[in-house]
Amino acid sequence: MPIFRFRDEGALGKVASVDTANVIVDVENLDQLKRLQVNHLSVLQSSRPGQHLIGLITQVTRKRGLENFDNDGVTDQNSELNLCRISLIGTLLDRDGEKENVFRRTLESVPEIDANCFSLDGENLTEFMRTLSNVAADGNSLTLGKYTLDEHAIAYLNGNKFFQRHAFIGGSTGSGKSWTTAKIIEQMAGLSTANAIVFDLHGEYSPLVEKGIQHFKVAGPADVEAKRTIDNGVLYLPYWLLSYEALVSMFVDRSDQNAPNQAMIMAREINQAKRKYLEDSGQKDILKHFTVDSPVPFDLGFLMQRLNEINVEMVPGARANTEKAGDFNGKLPRMISRLENKISDRRLGFMFNGGGDILNFTWLEKFTNCVLGSSGENDKAGIKIIDFSEVPSDVLPLIVSLVARVTFSVQQWTPSDMRHPIALLCDEAHLYMPQRNMADSADDISLDIFERIAKEGRKYGVSLVVISQRPSEVNKTMLSQCSNFVSMRLTNAEDQGVIKRLLPDSLGGFSDILPTLDIGEALVVGDASLLPSRIRIDEPINKPNSGTVNFWDEWQKPVKDNRLSIAVDNWRKQNIQ
Ligand SMILES: Nc1ncnc2c1ncn2[C@@H]1O[C@H](COP(=O)(O)OP(=O)(O)O)[C@@H](O)[C@H]1O
Ligand SMILES: [Mg+2]
Repeated sequence: MPIFRFRDEGALGKVASVDTANVIVDVENLDQLKRLQVNHLSVLQSSRPGQHLIGLITQVTRKRGLENFDNDGVTDQNSELNLCRISLIGTLLDRDGEKENVFRRTLESVPEIDANCFSLDGENLTEFMRTLSNVAADGNSLTLGKYTLDEHAIAYLNGNKFFQRHAFIGGSTGSGKSWTTAKIIEQMAGLSTANAIVFDLHGEYSPLVEKGIQHFKVAGPADVEAKRTIDNGVLYLPYWLLSYEALVSMFVDRSDQNAPNQAMIMAREINQAKRKYLEDSGQKDILKHFTVDSPVPFDLGFLMQRLNEINVEMVPGARANTEKAGDFNGKLPRMISRLENKISDRRLGFMFNGGGDILNFTWLEKFTNCVLGSSGENDKAGIKIIDFSEVPSDVLPLIVSLVARVTFSVQQWTPSDMRHPIALLCDEAHLYMPQRNMADSADDISLDIFERIAKEGRKYGVSLVVISQRPSEVNKTMLSQCSNFVSMRLTNAEDQGVIKRLLPDSLGGFSDILPTLDIGEALVVGDASLLPSRIRIDEPINKPNSGTVNFWDEWQKPVKDNRLSIAVDNWRKQNIQ
């Protein structure tokens, strides 16, 4: 049964002009004109029987020219120019083979001049939204919530498409991004072999405890002290996993006049240290092919000893029995002291103080088993929420991107018939994938990795969900690689502009609603969604921690004893007691 029941006399008006995807309708029914709303849906008669074109109303105009006034100054209704501009977004087919009422995102035909146009409301709207829901509920469906246009119709997204071509979730602070993310996580957790990593920068997602979800935390000073391990959900990310570029950005000051020499020495000596490790542990096969970037442990003490030697090295002079300073004599002290500072920085214990097994050759297998395993694999959960809240902000881009790099490399080195896809949910993405012009060297390394995943991830089954409150500060390349946008309320004009530019032209003013969206409401556009739509996101079962401090309330409560002296003491000891 076709769902639409339109009668010609109920028409809004007739098509007056058509271009590729836009139609202008001459509205004859004045009562209807008054009720028309921008961003609502409309239906146009198609030139083909059994088809209707669906459009989004983008503009409604009522014009009265001076010449339309008669002598008494009374308007002549007939000469009014009442127009409505509609952007075509898809076709509803009464029948497609076996299936009835099929909605397609393509325009299978164009409307003809004088074709009837109807406003899509009431029963017709309900039926249409139901159809969309049914069509989409085909097993691939990811549900975020209900359409604002019809609160009874569930808005399904195509889960394959959502992750295939990367997604972006944007919105001002407090607009509901974390809740939306939690809603997505909740549904992923229900899939039998789901696989995802959530970069949780503030420990917001700790309340998410459904089956299929596991929590990890990058070790903080107290965890290192207590020797908590991966079996307690505490992660270490040893220095030897960092790429050469990342190590250089950490240890070599780019403004130092000896920087190029230092970087060169680093490469040579890390290579040597890795070689020594492989020789000592009898890894002959690997010795033939390893590079400075290979995930091979090396002894930091050995590296430091070598650097110190090189820094004071004397070599035979031109004349017999004389000595002169080596090429790099005196050129490394700043790098050495930088290294020493980092190694002894308690906040970086997760990198330099990883406990006994960190140099084991099998460490990486154990790590990848925990962090990259899918649900059901090795009795692990598939959604891994990693809390980075104790990672110092200056190294955050290096550390977050390190996890991304390990993920991408493992996917790349998995034979294609054994690959299992994985999604990286990147909350607060502006912190580690900034615009190039705002990037420092640590950011550059992070960007290189994430841009690579954005461009090539699809081939290897790595998907990104980029989440940020500042779309205008997130790297443009990353955004332009996303094909699905969940835009929540955005109040900043610059941020709105970024989202507007990313939406298809045909949606015209649709993005103007960005600042007026309610909390928990989103504009969803992209190939995962049948219609560009406004969706009210359902509350997740377990809600993320709100980072919101209620100042006014807090200022009416008693203060904890000794809080300041405890803070100062912790600061000195680099440890939160
Ligand atoms: N879908 C929703 N339905 C109802 N309330 C919501 C919804 N999403 C968010 N909220 C409210 O808004 C607050 C902030 O949401 P949150 O997801 O933490 O925002 P963001 O991550 O964008 O800063 C939540 O604590 C909750 O009270
Ligand atoms: Mg948030």
